[in-house]
Amino acid sequence: EPAQVRLTVATDAAGARIEPEIYGHFVEHLGTGVYDGLWVGPESKIPNTRGWRNDLVEALRRLEVPVMRWPGGCFADDYDWRDGIGDPAKRPVRLNKWWGKVPESNRVGTHEFMDLVELLDSEAYLAGNMGSMPPRAMAQWLEYMTSDSQSTLAQERRRNGRDQPWKVKYFGVGNESWGCGGNMRPEYQADLHNQYATFLHAPVVRAASGDGTGDDHVTEVMMARSAKHMDALTLHYYTVAGTWEKKGGATGFDAGQWAKALQVAMDIEKRIVTTVGIMDKHDPDKRVALYVDEWGTWHDPEPGSNPGFLQQQNTLRDALVAALSFNVFHRHTERVKMANIAQMVNVLQAMALTDGPRMTLTPTYHAFDLYKPFRGATPLKAELQAPRWREGDIELPSVDVSAARAADGSLVLALVNLDPQRPARVQTNLSGVAQGRVLTAGAMDAHNTFAQPDALVPAPYQAGTDGTPLALELPPKSIVVVSVPK
Ligand code: AHR
Repeated sequence: EPAQVRLTVATDAAGARIEPEIYGHFVEHLGTGVYDGLWVGPESKIPNTRGWRNDLVEALRRLEVPVMRWPGGCFADDYDWRDGIGDPAKRPVRLNKWWGKVPESNRVGTHEFMDLVELLDSEAYLAGNMGSMPPRAMAQWLEYMTSDSQSTLAQERRRNGRDQPWKVKYFGVGNESWGCGGNMRPEYQADLHNQYATFLHAPVVRAASGDGTGDDHVTEVMMARSAKHMDALTLHYYTVAGTWEKKGGATGFDAGQWAKALQVAMDIEKRIVTTVGIMDKHDPDKRVALYVDEWGTWHDPEPGSNPGFLQQQNTLRDALVAALSFNVFHRHTERVKMANIAQMVNVLQAMALTDGPRMTLTPTYHAFDLYKPFRGATPLKAELQAPRWREGDIELPSVDVSAARAADGSLVLALVNLDPQRPARVQTNLSGVAQGRVLTAGAMDAHNTFAQPDALVPAPYQAGTDGTPLALELPPKSIVVVSVPK
């Protein structure tokens, strides 16, 4: 017996447009995220373009990656950009102290990363080192990359093979300054932020490191003391289905852990609402954006893998976490202008997993792909009357929705059925034919493997007939994204 759901979509806008950057990514020098992931090197037998593997480049181009954050994460505050320029053979080898203490060859540096940005037709979001380098180093990195002048730094870039300046749209001033970025009190961080940001000149967008542990004091102090010197404040939020010590496996979980992950994922909304409330107090004109520049699931590492590499499988549950998170971001577009899932390849909630020459796209990749019609669309108010669904002591709505008006006038609907057992029937106030795709599977932990890379892919979906009220049938544990023409 399907759950009976009623959906009423209003015609007037319910917020600012959905910035494509909400579908942004994060690439850290961590585990096999870069080396042996995206990057195989120009000499590799694996087909590549100047070192970046072609199968991934093609898959990511299809995804239309709007922005990529690099090189960290925690790595960023221990990174000297000078290590990654010039003759690769002469670049110093450092230890990647945060992530497995493995050697960092610096084979991928600024020139290589910016090449990837251009290959993907994306935008760069560089994370600068505020934790362990002086402000001058940060300012000089930006000048090196973006100056069109005859300055010594710009000439050095030209000697290193890049004549034209790159476009660096976004710049992060430190990362998690309350933790791996320097263990600072926010009061101290705010002073440092103002100092460093002074030397980063417009038009670059300056993002200040914000809260990541649910500590509103960080947001409060950064907004009170530094709002003038930032264009965005960041928020980190991870979905952990257990505790930080025992997070739970990425596969083989039970219905309780399914429900727990979805509940924690949906709770990002409370964090955003609280953070936005504090920002509103200090910045009522909403000049400063909120960038959720790290989000996603964090499970126990794959058995047998290096625990410092944060490798995890990716299932239908991860795809639902992504979809529910997108729906939340769509509800807060007045502030949330960017989000970057952690991380792009092989690390945490990845788009793709690689093993030597083999590669598979994850259910999360497919969730990003399904939601493409929302980019640039205007959110609409959508009211849902859906029965609650219970699992143990967790109670959640059975269905979650996002509705928006696309630039071409069509209506885009995303419906997530959280209930792993029960289908839902959604009766709407709309009419016409809805066409799109559905992502679902028989098992909660359905996933793709190197042997079966297409075990879980979206299927075509259609509902309704012309001139009759539109009703949609949602399979249990599914994501349905459809467009209804104007
Ligand atoms: O994404 C993994 C790590 O999580 C990042 O390096 C850090 O910023 C956060 O704690």
